[in-house]
Amino acid sequence: MSLSELIFSISATPDSGPVGEQNSLKGRVKHSNESSNVTASSASPAIEKKTPAKPQHRLVGFSTGLGGDLVRDALAAIVAPFVAVSFIIMAACEAVVHYGRKIVLRRRATNAYDVSKLRDDVEGKLEVDVFDPTEADYDRLQREYVEAGIPFIIKRKDGKPLTAAKPPAAATEGADFAKDCIRVAPTHYLANFDNLDGIVYHLFPYSMRAYWPIWFLGSYAQGKAHSDLGPHTMNCYYLKKGTKDVIVAPPEVTERLPLLKGLDGVYIPDSEDLTRAYLKDLPYYYHCELTPGAMLVFSNSSCLHQFMNGPDPVDGSYPEALSVRIKHTVTPSFRLWKHMTTDYAMWWRFTGVVVNQILCEPAEDREAKYL
Ligand SMILES: [Fe+2]
Repeated sequence: MSLSELIFSISATPDSGPVGEQNSLKGRVKHSNESSNVTASSASPAIEKKTPAKPQHRLVGFSTGLGGDLVRDALAAIVAPFVAVSFIIMAACEAVVHYGRKIVLRRRATNAYDVSKLRDDVEGKLEVDVFDPTEADYDRLQREYVEAGIPFIIKRKDGKPLTAAKPPAAATEGADFAKDCIRVAPTHYLANFDNLDGIVYHLFPYSMRAYWPIWFLGSYAQGKAHSDLGPHTMNCYYLKKGTKDVIVAPPEVTERLPLLKGLDGVYIPDSEDLTRAYLKDLPYYYHCELTPGAMLVFSNSSCLHQFMNGPDPVDGSYPEALSVRIKHTVTPSFRLWKHMTTDYAMWWRFTGVVVNQILCEPAEDREAKYL
């Protein structure tokens, strides 16, 4: 079996050490049809509630570039210093750009409130606004939503999908999705997505993709409520099939949450539990039901988020979602800058991601609760 034919399913025994510290390497590669110890159930209308998981530690597997594969290890050793330096430089550049805009250009979010403090005019669950791509005022969306950390949905009034893009065949044809695992299938950095690219360009005309676009596939209910580590990015999250019940906490709420450090995100422990009990502790948050053909736009770096999968309304199939992440620093998270400049475990994790890309891995499976 060639490297390009391999699809990894990561399974690891939770380490007994404290979260946020480097765990010992207990991961092992499993074929995707093997079961793994999980709590989240598969995407099904009758989702079964199971025992909540204990707080999870970082799951580390061969996909990080470790584990006896000489090619992967050698590549990781070469790539790791560049990844570390890149993150430090990126954090410095983000800070300069952000404070430069604030000080020199006097440019701030033009919404009616200050994102540096909690709003007192709202509480509990807030609905996400929806805009038709042919009628939207993109400048207003930029000023009043993007810069204020408020999520929004782009969806055609006639119900037609925004794009005909579909996931790579290597990740879906004959796929035997590992139960309760997320399949992460990267595309080419410059991949074209008809119509969708134009909408993204109108929203972020001076920004570029931060990573290669990624398809999220698989049979799972939901992962943990988390925000992503890495550089600050805006996530243009297009849903091709299935449904997603989405929670997004705005930056001013997220920054005040005591999140635990995971593999490549910070999260609320036990939040993969389907009751979403943690929501009662949030002063306010956004909620929406994302349907096929629509795109959610939000800051995945500054906003806590959680997606619960549901079956496709037409054929009941698993969700297929495309994530295009745009390098755009708004409502920056100090927590993120700290990790970018000091977190060697995060540098190593992203080294593994880069190695995967260099070796042209078609996809990677992760436990839905992998954070
Ligand atoms: Fe995320």
